[in-house]
Amino acid sequence: MSEQLHSAVLKALSTVIEPELHKDIVTLNMVRDLRVEDGIAHFTIMLTTPACPLKDVMYKAAEVAVLKVEGMRGIQVKWDAEVPTDRRVHGRITMPIRNVIAVGSGKGGVGKTTMSVNLAISLAKEGARVGLMDADILTPNVPIMLGLTAGRPAVQDGKIVPFEVFGVKAISMGFLIEPDKAMVWRGPMLNSAIRQFFNDVNWGDNIDYMIVDLPPGTGDAPLSLAQAVPLTGAVIVSQPQQVAIGDALRSISMFEQLNVPIIGIVENMAGELFGEGGGEQLAQERGVPFLGRIPLDGEIRKGGDLGRPIVVSAPESATAQAFRRFARDVAARISVIQLQSSDFIPLDIIG
Ligand SMILES: Nc1ncnc2c1ncn2[C@@H]1O[C@H](COP(=O)(O)OP(=O)(O)OP(=O)(O)O)[C@@H](O)[C@H]1O
Ligand SMILES: [Mg+2]
Repeated sequence: MSEQLHSAVLKALSTVIEPELHKDIVTLNMVRDLRVEDGIAHFTIMLTTPACPLKDVMYKAAEVAVLKVEGMRGIQVKWDAEVPTDRRVHGRITMPIRNVIAVGSGKGGVGKTTMSVNLAISLAKEGARVGLMDADILTPNVPIMLGLTAGRPAVQDGKIVPFEVFGVKAISMGFLIEPDKAMVWRGPMLNSAIRQFFNDVNWGDNIDYMIVDLPPGTGDAPLSLAQAVPLTGAVIVSQPQQVAIGDALRSISMFEQLNVPIIGIVENMAGELFGEGGGEQLAQERGVPFLGRIPLDGEIRKGGDLGRPIVVSAPESATAQAFRRFARDVAARISVIQLQSSDFIPLDIIG
């Protein structure tokens, strides 16, 4: 009898569709440890990201489905998450990094570093294990925005130990060189610096999302990055004005040429001064997802200058909430990209 009820409940749950991935949660192996007791179905839903924006939708759908089974009167759900990776990323880098996300734009000063820092911290706050790599080797800005302007990282067993702040592990050339020493870099050196950030830094047991802050433009850094590791995708930062659109377009084309999926476009500094909508229009024209807009907000600049990012200093502000939605959208898109990839590794076999 109870075994019958167990399979009836499982069958009911297999009608629940994961809204982003468009498959049912049983086929996706998201339902774990199902146990039926006194008419209550106890189970864990294993999400593909702790930053899932659709928990409530799935909970409701699961409840409705289970209540249709005779003898059932409720559900008791535990949430857990395993961020997927793919064979390209899994096989090629020695460090256990599941997803590498480039943040780029054609234009300087549009807010790449601001997006990278607040995205990384927002994902960490959701419970993901997050790394932040400053691939702006010549003019590293991540240290200031994280408030990490003094001290050097330790070296342990021949590897650099990244700084950890606001729940994020970070590495930057700014941690390694004297701040007032201008360095002369040539292309190959940039290349090896980025490689070393992956291979010679102790990233720990696992990084779900490695956010890589790129310098402006379509030059050496994105190319070096794409050659060093397989990228899960790129987030393109744009501003609302029409003049910014051409630069964003060039950035999209460059990533497409490098075979890097576009996660989407985020519009930064939206508001009265610059207007809004340019980023969204571009996303529509190019058929890539729009990841929302972050308002022009003086608190963002203040937080950046003081090394206290706005998602930390004012987590309940409208701006921080916009960052949270953006981060959840990025995470959801990554799950979709991974699932659609033929190199996808099913959740139950990644260690
Ligand atoms: N939405 C925003 N509202 C107000 N100020 C912002 C916003 N986004 C970024 N800024 C500020 O704009 C300046 C440039 O931002 P940021 O350094 O993130 O841009 P970037 O694209 O990384 O620049 P670069 O191309 O030089 O690397 C910073 O002072 C930052 O604090
Ligand atoms: Mg920058």
